[in-house]
Amino acid sequence: MAKLTASSFLLVLFLSSVSAVTDEDKKEYIVYMGSLSSREDYTPMSHHMSILQEVTGESSIEGRLVRSYKKSFNGFAARLTESEREKVAKMEGVVSVFPNKMLQLQTTSSWDFMGLKEGTKTKRNPTTESDTIIGVIDTGITPESESFSDKGFGHPPKKWKGVCSGSENFTCNNKLIGARDYTSEGTRDTEGHGTHTASTAAGNAVADTSFFGIGNGTVRGGVPAARIAAYKVCTVTGCTSDAILSGFDDAIADGVDLITISIGGKAAANFETDPIAIGAFHAMVKGILTVNAAGNSGPSAETVTGVAPWLLTVAASTTNRGFVTKVVLGNGTALVGKSVNSFDLRGKNYPLVYGKSAASSSCDAEMAGHCSLSCLEKSHVEGKILVCSDPDGLKIAESVGAIAVIYKSLKPDVAFIHHLPASSLQAKDFESLVSYIESTDSPQASVLKTETIFNRTSPVIASFSSRGPNTIAIDILKPDITAPGVEILAAFSPNAEPSEHDTRKVKYSVLSGTSMACPHIAGVAAYIKTFYPKWSPSMIQSAIMTTAWPVNATGTGIASTEFAYGAGHVNPIAALNPGLVYESDKADHVAFLCGMNYTSDILKVITGENITCSEKNDTLPRNLNYPSMSAKLLVSDSNFTVAFNRTLTNVGTPSSTYKSTVVAGHGSKLGVEVTPSVLSFKTVNERQSFRVTVTGSDLDSELPSSANLIWSDGTHTVRSPIVIYADSH
Ligand SMILES: *[C@@H]1O[C@H](CO)[C@@H](O)[C@H](O)[C@H]1NC(C)=O
Ligand SMILES: *[C@@H]1O[C@H](CO)[C@@H](O)[C@H](O)[C@H]1NC(C)=O
Ligand SMILES: *[C@@H]1O[C@H](CO)[C@@H](O)[C@H](O)[C@H]1NC(C)=O
Ligand SMILES: *[C@@H]1O[C@H](CO)[C@@H](O)[C@H](O)[C@H]1NC(C)=O
Ligand SMILES: *[C@@H]1O[C@H](CO)[C@@H](O)[C@H](O)[C@H]1NC(C)=O
Ligand SMILES: *[C@@H]1O[C@H](CO)[C@@H](O)[C@H](O)[C@H]1NC(C)=O
Ligand SMILES: *[C@@H]1O[C@H](CO)[C@@H](O)[C@H](O)[C@H]1NC(C)=O
Ligand SMILES: *[C@@H]1O[C@H](CO)[C@@H](O)[C@H](O)[C@H]1NC(C)=O
Ligand SMILES: *[C@@H]1O[C@H](CO)[C@@H](O)[C@H](O)[C@H]1NC(C)=O
Ligand SMILES: *[C@@H]1O[C@H](CO)[C@@H](O)[C@H](O)[C@H]1NC(C)=O
Repeated sequence: MAKLTASSFLLVLFLSSVSAVTDEDKKEYIVYMGSLSSREDYTPMSHHMSILQEVTGESSIEGRLVRSYKKSFNGFAARLTESEREKVAKMEGVVSVFPNKMLQLQTTSSWDFMGLKEGTKTKRNPTTESDTIIGVIDTGITPESESFSDKGFGHPPKKWKGVCSGSENFTCNNKLIGARDYTSEGTRDTEGHGTHTASTAAGNAVADTSFFGIGNGTVRGGVPAARIAAYKVCTVTGCTSDAILSGFDDAIADGVDLITISIGGKAAANFETDPIAIGAFHAMVKGILTVNAAGNSGPSAETVTGVAPWLLTVAASTTNRGFVTKVVLGNGTALVGKSVNSFDLRGKNYPLVYGKSAASSSCDAEMAGHCSLSCLEKSHVEGKILVCSDPDGLKIAESVGAIAVIYKSLKPDVAFIHHLPASSLQAKDFESLVSYIESTDSPQASVLKTETIFNRTSPVIASFSSRGPNTIAIDILKPDITAPGVEILAAFSPNAEPSEHDTRKVKYSVLSGTSMACPHIAGVAAYIKTFYPKWSPSMIQSAIMTTAWPVNATGTGIASTEFAYGAGHVNPIAALNPGLVYESDKADHVAFLCGMNYTSDILKVITGENITCSEKNDTLPRNLNYPSMSAKLLVSDSNFTVAFNRTLTNVGTPSSTYKSTVVAGHGSKLGVEVTPSVLSFKTVNERQSFRVTVTGSDLDSELPSSANLIWSDGTHTVRSPIVIYADSH
């Protein structure tokens, strides 16, 4: 086959999606035509129209041409019948036709995805919202960001007792009402992380934001009218325990209503050595809920951090908006990769070179295939697209003069920003790229600009999101909930790098992680608090957990169970009206700690008080009045019975009757008995207790067994996961 250059062929991408089918026999296709011709007299639109006229045989192509692309590449979208599609495919220069099933251009913000719509579509309580203060313990903040402008804000609420001590060049306002620094760098954010999380929780709605056009739309926080106080406890080297404890200490005293902290260790720590568990315990005692990120060490088991029951622990999942970056090979095949690529090669093809074929004498082929440091010969790479079996190639790309990088992805469900044109491919696509390179005389390709796609397969828990089981409090299910944490656009610091070695300065950027999911839940918690200012942390936590959507997770074994997502995906609107809540106060948490057999010395470290556990107090940790129920058993318990005591508080209708039902979940079947199985409430705030007895046999040591307990009065659905698992050791 004669070789084709990008400008001499047409590519046809086949797009079938819900909205694309306009009538029975026509479907929407994207006709991709490589790079733009540099000829002055070339007008893409008229070329597209003449192709359409030729293919359809109609002089009027009204309703056929959907869109002409003429910015980053040449092509168009059109509605064609099957026979017309075949005709286009046979037209001179057309090499191939691709099905591209899941793709549809659509921009959805994470808050829209969660159901908290912009403007009047969402019920708001503006007065209380502007009296709500969110404490953000993080890397500081960017006070000049439009996300924190105080246009339209009145004075801080009276209860505010904090200060603005961000250093010399740092000014607070009526939106960003407080700043403290524990790093001696000043509260200004030089990482971007703290600015991003703060704007997701409570940033203003800012229209027309994007990362160089990618993900364009309105960026906003969950409670845009709320106030923010920033506590800087982290620098580029990390966050010290001492700074974190001081941050909690001040935030509690300053009068914040809620704390969001997207920080954690590599593994869960004992409560008495975990500054977040200790700080959050004190916050809980003062009626302040702490929302914490679950960690980014998934999908392996036992990686979740933030495991104390007085924390609301958040996993990360996808939304229906995804970013993809296509790699178009010289033979016309398009591979759909992932990255956030704003660089525009204008569809131009460049020679491809696999690291293996550019090895310097000091490296073996495998290391060179990874594009490891000092492994490649510059003369082989210069001016070409470097292909690497490892993201390491990004680090050396510039030093060897690569135009772009295509690498094999380690995290195929996440798009990252890079400092040069780049895309990451899944293993299968990477193999076909390599086979194309190896079977072609002068292999070439182009890396396109990132496209926004509509991903119907959502939400799905991200592979990186840390998984349970909880290694410290083994009978407390963690994480608790999931929220959007993949490819989130939010405010950023112009003093930070959008990616490693990236010299661009941006005010908005795309980040992924449980760090991004955490402030979404903080925003929801604040939203609930604007309607129920007196609700305790446990009531808000319960409302969020028992109203969550069921969700799926990537991975196999426990990685795809409740150990990935806890109660499920947050539903902010339903969380406003939970009907019943599971409450727990300081005394309940102390009883829980006594049940964990902690000594008085340890209890003092966690609670700051002299506590002697009563000998007779036989409260088992799993009887803490938690919104989920979990127990770890020995594998040798081939037949088992385990019970949970719970109490529900009516926060819905005064006179209501709830019936229990049990729905099966993962693993071997559980027998679940609920006594009583019907609860009748006469008044609001009335409490009713019940007992759940779970029986089963032969637990799988690799997969937990689960079920869902659902209390319903016909209006409210109060769902709790029940998870029984075995000691796999
Ligand atoms: C203060 O910060 C702003 C924003 O980063 C910067 O433009 C300005 O140069 C700084 N001024 C001083 C005196 O550091
Ligand atoms: C994003 O930009 C594209 C292209 O300019 C435009 O068609 C689209 O409407 C924009 N989306 C939003 C949400 O502003
Ligand atoms: C291009 O090359 C790849 C890898 O060798 C192959 O899978 C694909 O079918 C080729 N496409 C065309 C249109 O020949
Ligand atoms: C859509 O989301 C699913 C689940 O995260 C993921 O596996 C898939 O790759 C995504 N599709 C695209 C085109 O990004
Ligand atoms: C989870 O995945 C299964 C299998 O793909 C699907 O049938 C089910 O609808 C999904 N559930 C949710 C809640 O997305
Ligand atoms: C606490 O100690 C009691 C008595 O020794 C024991 O039965 C129980 O399993 C212990 N609980 C935990 C959580 O270690
Ligand atoms: C705890 O007990 C010690 C001595 O037993 C006492 O000195 C201390 O003040 C007590 N602390 C609190 C917070 O009650
Ligand atoms: C057990 O501890 C709880 C919480 O501190 C307390 O309310 C209860 O009275 C205790 N029970 C016994 C028997 O000591
Ligand atoms: C477990 O229970 C089943 C039926 O519930 C019974 O047939 C079996 O004998 C029991 N096994 C043990 C070891 O008790
Ligand atoms: C749990 O509930 C049962 C039945 O209501 C009751 O007998 C038992 O004392 C309770 N256990 C605890 C630890 O509260």
